[in-house]
Amino acid sequence: MAYDFDTFVERRASGSEKWRQFDHDVLPMWIADMDFKAPDAVIAALRGRVEHGIFGYHFDEPALRDNLIERLRLRHAITINPDEIVFIPGLVTALNFVSHLIGVPGDGVLTLTPIYPPFLKAPKHQQRIVQTAPLAVTRDGQRLHYEIDFDALEAAVTPQTRLFMLCNPHNPVGRTFTRAELEGLSEFCLRHDLIVASDEIHCDLLYPGEQHISLASLSPEIANRCITLMAPSKTFNLPGLALGFAVVQNSDLLKRLRDHQTGMGSFVNALGYTAALAAYRDGQDWLDQAMRYLEQNRETAIRFIDEHMPDITTTRPQATYLLWLDCRAVSLPGDKSPYAHFLEQGRVALNDGAAFGEPGRGFVRLNYATSRDTVIQGLERMKSAYDALRVSAG
Ligand SMILES: Cc1ncc(COP(=O)(O)O)c(C=O)c1O
Repeated sequence: MAYDFDTFVERRASGSEKWRQFDHDVLPMWIADMDFKAPDAVIAALRGRVEHGIFGYHFDEPALRDNLIERLRLRHAITINPDEIVFIPGLVTALNFVSHLIGVPGDGVLTLTPIYPPFLKAPKHQQRIVQTAPLAVTRDGQRLHYEIDFDALEAAVTPQTRLFMLCNPHNPVGRTFTRAELEGLSEFCLRHDLIVASDEIHCDLLYPGEQHISLASLSPEIANRCITLMAPSKTFNLPGLALGFAVVQNSDLLKRLRDHQTGMGSFVNALGYTAALAAYRDGQDWLDQAMRYLEQNRETAIRFIDEHMPDITTTRPQATYLLWLDCRAVSLPGDKSPYAHFLEQGRVALNDGAAFGEPGRGFVRLNYATSRDTVIQGLERMKSAYDALRVSAG
């Protein structure tokens, strides 16, 4: 069937965080969820589960584990046993668990910046020291390209570093790291005796021709140090159902994560399991169509910015529906951030790049997972705020 991503679905009344965070006249293009209905198969499965009417404590569905094992083997070249999957109510929770699990207070957690903000917050919640290595960035006209900077990694690592947190594909820069980069990273983590939390939540949101490589697929040695984090939530737009999972092949780490999970009293809700199984089993057609639509949105946004806001440079994401915009060449009054300017003058809510670590200052992140008309509306709002600066400068 053909899915309709063009029809705008009102979300404010549904309690959507994205649509409720700001005033009514603000267009939200920030938090990473999509303004698209989930695949029909998911909605039908949830309806069926709701009709049952009992929502007691719940085991995961064996069929979901089987589906994930097959998916990991075929798509990610990771072969595991059923008990090597640990379900967790969301990956931010998982980032906090792993920060707590590895090392002791005062130990270092290393990551690549700019980075999804919970990577910077979770270690601090557990009294760990956040260590950052900026990604290397190059420019080609108005396009930005980011790569892993191994010199920066060597400069940031210390004998106290115990955990490396990887985001692949990378939020906010949209990279799917190459095999060569991941091999370099694997060698680095083995040499410095680090455990890796590899957050691969965006791994299914790939544009045509792009490939995702799981760090744990590279060798048994790195697999033995990896806690791979995945979820159907970004892929099929289900984050409100709070289901993610960790893949852990090291038996000691697996036992500790399981004990931790049980000890912290967290469990995944019954509807999350139902939705995840339906999405992974029957949602591929929806996903293929959604990615084609998002690719057009990506190109629409890039063309518009290139033409109408030429002082802004952008990434062209290989994965994710998040565009990363360098606004440092735009002359803003005083020390105003581009985030505040676009919000106040354009009434459009983006994410403030400063929250993604120091290299994000002067940047914003734009979520284009909405109807094409809404993307254009958001860009027009940005343009009016951008043009207002020229007029006041002139
Ligand atoms: C890299 C990354 N990890 C985790 C999350 C959030 O995951 P969850 O909603 O399962 O907590 C996001 C959401 O944007 C993300 O981009």
